[in-house]
Parts: sequence; structure tokens; C-alpha cells
Amino acid sequence: MNSNMKVDAVVLAAGEGTRMVSSKPKVLHPIMGRPVISYVLETVAHFANRVLVVVGKGADEVTIAMEGKALFIEQPRRMGTADAVKCALPQVESPMVLVVAGDMPLVSRESIQRLLSAMNLNREEAAMALLTIQAENPQGYGRIVRENNEVAAIVEEAEADGSTREIREINLGAYLFDADFLRQAVERIKPSRAKEEYYLTDTVAIAREMGLGVLAVEAAEPVEGQGINTRVDLAGVQEIMRQRVLEELMLKGVTVLMPQTVYVEPDVEIGRDTTICPGAFLEGETRVGEECTIGMGVHLKDVILGDHVSILDHTLLEGAEVESHAQVGPFARIRPGTQIGEKAKVGNFVEMKKTTFGRGSKASHLSYIGDSIVGEEVNIGAGTITCNYDGFSKHQTVIERGVFIGSDTQLVAPVKIGADALVGAGSTITKNVPPNSLTLTRAPQRVREGKGMLFQAKRRGSK
Ligand code: UD1
Ligand code: MG
Repeated sequence: MNSNMKVDAVVLAAGEGTRMVSSKPKVLHPIMGRPVISYVLETVAHFANRVLVVVGKGADEVTIAMEGKALFIEQPRRMGTADAVKCALPQVESPMVLVVAGDMPLVSRESIQRLLSAMNLNREEAAMALLTIQAENPQGYGRIVRENNEVAAIVEEAEADGSTREIREINLGAYLFDADFLRQAVERIKPSRAKEEYYLTDTVAIAREMGLGVLAVEAAEPVEGQGINTRVDLAGVQEIMRQRVLEELMLKGVTVLMPQTVYVEPDVEIGRDTTICPGAFLEGETRVGEECTIGMGVHLKDVILGDHVSILDHTLLEGAEVESHAQVGPFARIRPGTQIGEKAKVGNFVEMKKTTFGRGSKASHLSYIGDSIVGEEVNIGAGTITCNYDGFSKHQTVIERGVFIGSDTQLVAPVKIGADALVGAGSTITKNVPPNSLTLTRAPQRVREGKGMLFQAKRRGSK
């Protein structure tokens, strides 16, 4: 809260959202990984003592998803925006009420601050303030009708005649009301002619009838009027936010190649002089250090990367940590609970899960390392598999520092390989290996002189 006025907020989210063609409530569809409504809740929470959300369709789902962020009030029947506000009013305690539609994620703090400042300056005579913009295409919005330059009424599209439809100044759907005025006004609103809904926008004409002022405040940016009605709107708003996130990153020293192909969620942090290549997708609570390279088509989710880390093309990391100067990929899959140490190298077609992989260790090709603790400076040969699952439960593999595992080895867990041991290629290790030893389980090689010639002759003859 940064205002000296006491404000409660009412967020309207009971609408059907029919045009989303979805079984999920409209306000829970994600934009940049977060529900549509979470943006409005965050913005109004900055100003409000209490945040009240009016829910209807999918009330339980919305309440569960946003638990702890607001108080939820059910609107029994969807009878219009004024009816929705009326449902919330008994819970309002502050002298001022901010009302915002829950499907307008681009409404900014700056614009809400403008509403508060305008009311602050005109506290005596104004009953309400509302955000407007001059729209290129005002279709579908309530039009601001002015008389002698003063706001006289808002006329909804469905009720508007030809000349009113020409008006380009529109109602954004965000208002600040004097609470006492609002309580009186909602009682006086009559159902609309065209839709038989109770329109909150009728409060404007009621204020004027009561001889009270209505303040029209220009929103900070025209895009703030962009609400979510369809999945096309969802994509459009996301695109605006995506570009903003990337521009902010670039201005903070991150290089983004072909930014039109890169997706980075707002909570992701990226250090300076890091390069993000085309097609990268960074989501969740991801933190990338300085001077890293994020290759083409890399997907990071809830990942922490140190400085100078290279994630090479087409690698997926989830719930993992990679320390400085390490390299992962191309085509690696690093699953939750994995920690890759400093200067380690995890190469092509390697999968890791719940593994601590020590400093300077290498698994360069074609391996599965799961439920493992791998010490420092270990070399894991191509095709090494930790057999962590016996059909019933998962078991741990411990590989101590300095170990060399030859290619195509199976480590049948639970098993421990002692420090500096050497395991010969092609071994199946089922028992613990002592430190400094050489262990191999390979079958002896048998040679029959001349047999190959017979075979080759037969093979060529058959062609
Ligand atoms: C509303 C405004 C219009 C404005 C536009 C901006 C009214 C009458 N009109 O029109 O002037 O230009 O927003 O987008 O307010 N809701 C409820 N319960 C209801 C009805 C609606 O909670 O019974 C919620 C909806 O979920 C939505 C918001 O109120 O979040 C706005 O309702 P909507 O039906 O989208 O109004 P618009 O026709 O867009
Ligand atoms: Mg709407």
C-alpha cells in the first residue's frame, strides 16, 4: 500500500468465459506460466487492505488455485457486473473500493495509482473515477459519453445507437468508488434493456443524477484495455508480456538471438553477458548466472545455473542445479534432484535423475545415471547405466572420487565403487568394488582361426 486512502479491492471473475471453449475457468488459463487472474490480484494487492474476488463458474477451482491471495465470494447467478459487486459489498470495510475485472492482466499499477491520485485530489465532489483509453477499435466496449467535456454516462455496445458507437473513448473496466456512494448506487441500478443484466457502468449516470462528479482517467498505456475473452486474446496478451520480459533482459545485459523465438517467464533471472539462442524456453523459478550460453531449443524449468555454464542445443533440465563452468548437452535430459558440479561435463544423450555429479566429472555420451552420488574427477564411459530399479524399489549407486568406469558398464544398485577404482568396459557390477582396484566381469574372448573366412565365402556366394 502506498496511498494514504484506505481501499478494498473487488475483482470480478464470475463470468462464464464461454468463448474460451474450455472446462477450465477463464481466469485460470495461464499467461507466461501464471493464471490470468494472478496479474490483477498482484496489481490490486499493492493498493488494497483486503482483496475480494467474486467467483461463479469454477468457483472452487479458482478459490483453491488462488488460496491465501484473496477472500472469495460466490455470485449465485450471473446477473451482471453491478450484481457481482453487490455480492462483495457486505465484505467491504474501507471507505474506498477499487473494482477491476479479473480478465484484464495488463492493467498496470501506474494506472491504478492514477485513479487513486485523481480521487485524492477531488475527494469532496467526486463519487468515482474510472480508467479510459482512446481505442483504435472501440467495438465491444462501453463508450464514454461526455457532455460539456464532463463524463455523463457509459453506454454499453448493446445499448448504443449509431452515433454513440462512433465514440472512441472507452471504459477499460477498472474503477475507484466512494464506498458509500457505491452501496447506494447498486441499489438503484435497473436491468439493462438489451441484456437484462445489471450494469456497473450505470453508476456513472447515477452519480451525475446525484450531482456528484465522475473522473475519467487515462490509462498509462492503450494495451491495458486488452482483456481475455478467447484463446486468441490469451496468445496476444502473452506476446506483449513476452516481448516486455525479453526487452528488460536485453537492457540488463543479456544477449537474445532471434528474440521472436525465445520464451522467458517473468520470474526467471539471467545474469549479464549470458547469451540465449533461438528457440530457448525458460520457465518457473529459473536462475541463470553470468556469461552462460543457453543453446538452441534448450528448455529450463526451475533450474539454477552458476556462471560460465554452457547448456548446449536441445537439452531439457528440470529442478536441477548446474555449477559454474560446467557443460551440459547437446541432447541431454537432466531430471529433478540433480546437481552437477563445477567444471563437470554431461554430454550427448545422457539422462540424469536425483544425482549429485562431482566437480570435474564427465559423462560424455549415452548414459543413464539415476539415484547416484558421483564424486569428483570421475570418468563415466559411453553407455554406462545405473540399474537403479529392481522392479520394486529404487536403489543408490555411489561412485567415489577419481573412478574410471569403462564404456557399456551396468552398475546394479545398491552398489559402491571405491575411490580411484577402474572398472573395465562391458562389465556388469553387482557387488561393491574396493578403492584402487581393477574390476571387470567381461566374458573371455574366444578366437577360432579361419572360421571367419568360411563365413565370408558363404555370405558372398549367396549374393
Ligand atoms: C465490461 C463493461 C464495459 C467495458 C468492458 C471492458 C459493464 C456493464 N461493462 O463489459 O463498459 O468496456 O467491461 O472490458 O460492466 N462478471 C461477473 N459477474 C457477472 C458479470 C460479469 O463477475 O454477472 C465479471 C466477468 O467475469 C468479467 C467482468 O465482470 O471479469 C466484466 O464482465 P463482462 O461480461 O466481460 O463485461 P463486458 O461486456 O466486457
Ligand atoms: Mg469483458
